[in-house]
Amino acid sequence: MRSVVLPGYNKNVLRAMLSLRIEDRPMPVLKEGEVLIKTSAAACNPSDIAFIQGAYNIVKPVPAIPGFEGAGQIVDAARNAEYLIGKKVSAFVQSDNSGTWAEYFVAKTSDIIVLTDEMPDEQAACFTVNPFTAYAMFKWVENISAKAVVQNAAGSQVASFIRMMANENGVEVIDIVRKSETASMLEGMGAKHVLLETDVDFNDKLKLICDELKPRLAFDAVGGSLSGEMYNALAPNSRMLVYGGLSNKPLSGLGVMDTIFHDKTVMGFNLIDWKLRLKEGEFDVISLFLQEKFIRGPYKTRISKTIRFDEVIKGIKSYLGNMSAGKLLLKP
Ligand SMILES: NC(=O)c1ccc[n+]([C@@H]2O[C@H](COP(=O)([O-])OP(=O)(O)OC[C@H]3O[C@@H](n4cnc5c(N)ncnc54)[C@H](OP(=O)(O)O)[C@@H]3O)[C@@H](O)[C@H]2O)c1
Repeated sequence: MRSVVLPGYNKNVLRAMLSLRIEDRPMPVLKEGEVLIKTSAAACNPSDIAFIQGAYNIVKPVPAIPGFEGAGQIVDAARNAEYLIGKKVSAFVQSDNSGTWAEYFVAKTSDIIVLTDEMPDEQAACFTVNPFTAYAMFKWVENISAKAVVQNAAGSQVASFIRMMANENGVEVIDIVRKSETASMLEGMGAKHVLLETDVDFNDKLKLICDELKPRLAFDAVGGSLSGEMYNALAPNSRMLVYGGLSNKPLSGLGVMDTIFHDKTVMGFNLIDWKLRLKEGEFDVISLFLQEKFIRGPYKTRISKTIRFDEVIKGIKSYLGNMSAGKLLLKP
């Protein structure tokens, strides 16, 4: 099967990307509880970029096929899972010997979402991770009755779903981005409070808007000093959910007195642990709810480019140049 192959990890993202090859690889052999999926489309996410650098929490033996997320049709299944053959699915892949950037990939039955035919293939390819991440994190708005939230990397797809959910629930969003073109794009889409982290008076503007809207929830995908700036601007009795480390820098600058006297808490969020904590059947209910939002609207992942496997290097280059433009999809 045609596959994108990573021969070895490289901390330097450019070198890691340039090392990617297209190769014919043997078809994967199924183990118990697994299905074989014929890929319709696969997503390229920040986790894939961290993966090829050897900087993600999943490290596969090399040479490895990258790609954690994708969609397609189940064409084979291990014993007791044959009833799934023919189903259209979205899937998340963590196994050592498979990845979604290939003509076929293997997923555990627990990591697939069976879809209705109405779900567009391209949306299906990026359905399993970001919409659920935003959904799970947005639940904190209800948990602590927050009326406003603040988020960084606000041009991302997770941030975009947070805005859609906030819009549906009458919650104010303060969006922080690093490029002026992303700020203009978000404002053009109706975002009301967009701040540019590179502005000289960014911190003052952040404090001003936070004093007015009193956000009690922050979503941090960046780390570094921006985490501290967001945290310190939060109203008392607030939570900051750290769910990404795009700056590759440790959290810094978090106010000690705020933590002690204003009941502020920093928490980590990851989708896999969240899913494991759900009650039986709960994930399926959420999944159907989100599918409906995609099929009937208004939810949608912004997709900037769909490429063939042999265009992978060019595709990743363009994705890294403007990640806020939308997702990069790979098709066999
Ligand atoms: N914890 C979890 O379970 C979980 C689940 C899903 C996603 N995530 C994380 O959520 C984050 C967003 O994912 P996504 O798929 O929604 O992203 P995406 O749509 O691919 O967009 C990435 C965004 O991050 C911005 N960005 C990249 N590096 C940055 C930096 N150093 N400082 C500030 N902004 C930066 C980009 O802005 P430019 O346009 O300026 O490049 C872009 O807006 C990622 O960190 C991802 O790993 C975590």
